[in-house]
Amino acid sequence: MKILHASAEYFPYIKMGGLADMLASLTKEQAKTEEVYVALPYIGGLGKSPQWTGREYPALLPNDAKTDSLVVSILKNSKFLEAEESGVKLYFFQSDLFQSLNSVYGHAEEHFRFAMFSYACYALSQILKVDVFHAHDWHTAIALTLQKDSANPIPSVFTIHNLAYQGDHPFWMTGFLKEEPFRLITSPFDHDGKCNYMKAGILSADKITTVSPGYREETLSEPNGFGLSYCLQQRSGDYRGILNGIDSEEWNPNKDKRIYKTYSAKDWKEGKLKNKTELFKEIGRPSLPLDVPLVGLIGRLTHQKGFPTFLQAFSERRHLPHRYVVLGSGEPEMEKTFYYLSETFPDVFYFYKGYNENLAHKIEAASDFFLMPSLFEPCGLNQMYSHNYGTIPIVSRVGGLKDTVEESNIPSYKTGIVFEPNDAGSLGYALERAKDLFGSQERDIVVKNIMDLDWSWKKRKLEYDLVYTKAIELKI
Ligand code: ADP
Ligand code: GLC
Repeated sequence: MKILHASAEYFPYIKMGGLADMLASLTKEQAKTEEVYVALPYIGGLGKSPQWTGREYPALLPNDAKTDSLVVSILKNSKFLEAEESGVKLYFFQSDLFQSLNSVYGHAEEHFRFAMFSYACYALSQILKVDVFHAHDWHTAIALTLQKDSANPIPSVFTIHNLAYQGDHPFWMTGFLKEEPFRLITSPFDHDGKCNYMKAGILSADKITTVSPGYREETLSEPNGFGLSYCLQQRSGDYRGILNGIDSEEWNPNKDKRIYKTYSAKDWKEGKLKNKTELFKEIGRPSLPLDVPLVGLIGRLTHQKGFPTFLQAFSERRHLPHRYVVLGSGEPEMEKTFYYLSETFPDVFYFYKGYNENLAHKIEAASDFFLMPSLFEPCGLNQMYSHNYGTIPIVSRVGGLKDTVEESNIPSYKTGIVFEPNDAGSLGYALERAKDLFGSQERDIVVKNIMDLDWSWKKRKLEYDLVYTKAIELKI
């Protein structure tokens, strides 16, 4: 089967969050048995230099090249450059629209830039004559509508990674979608008076997936449908939740070159101790105690991640012996608060502001617990990375977190600690339980349980195969 994915992110070239990791790990597994292609924007700030093959492909279909509008001329001057990575063919969309960008999101004119990228992805799918076209999140959703309206529609799948981001813009900004080469009727994408790209994807794709069964259920009603639950309900028969897998090679404490000392389920205690000692030295806090729970937190500092709940619990449970290492960047207010805590309580709290892939691995290896206080979480990857590193996750009972972490009363089934979202009391009590678990023999059992878990794509990839087959059947 020939599969073309269209995405704004792909690790290690463009990573802003979990989408990059999810897609890189899924396609690596798919490439073992299928022909897998990924279309990506070619931004100036790529995280790695691609291995170019020298082959190039147009970004405009010949039939659409006849008029000479601004949009058509931009696409004429754009192209895809082919590269290879772990058996996957990557197609970088080279265009003035993206070339000057250091990061893929957060710039003006996103509605235009991503619609143009979406058209180019659609064109590429037709040129490569793929069997399945798989688009991810709102950035590539317009491609699904083009596919649906095409004379030769390719079976299509839309994966929702996060409904909080929908790409909705005032209609006056998206008038170009009615012109060549789009020729779209945009009134069905109207949501709250705006042209909503996420809605376009939901209405147009043959099959829809999201990244965990738990989140699928949550999105079928409000508030987690972010206003689009009615749309998802309409398509519920075509909508599945498939839990993300992870790259268990990249996130393997036994092979990880980014951490201070590799370790396995046999020597995790020594491994963690060494990693903790070295991390404390590296962050300039060598005298932090080693015999109390170290709690790691990593993530985008946004509303979704629920950090204020943690901050409240932290201030309410000052008697706890825990130490905290936080890595993240995002909302300035949150950054300021974490910075303040780091300066005020240097013997308890450390904050690194920014994005740092190496430090993320080091924190996973050094921490005893990993805290994810999300208000909602489509899947979440760090709880699964934590399992691999013998780091016990403490998570809120939402979305993919509740699907992957279980606080069973039976120690041999326990894979973490779970609390209620947006509830500092519940989170605080979870931190208390973490303290008890840290000093108990039960911890050995829990660490063994979690390091034995297999979150790789090996089996879960088959669920996507099934969705692809069903999408193909619809077109026969
Ligand atoms: P989301 O996609 O909502 O941000 P996920 O848990 O799916 O959440 O994935 C986030 C990914 O990004 C994880 O691999 C996490 O380690 C990584 N990450 C987030 N913030 C940072 C950061 N500041 N430095 C390094 N890695 C980060
Ligand atoms: C999104 C979600 C996150 C998920 C990731 C990969 O960014 O916020 O929960 O793990 O996509 O699917």
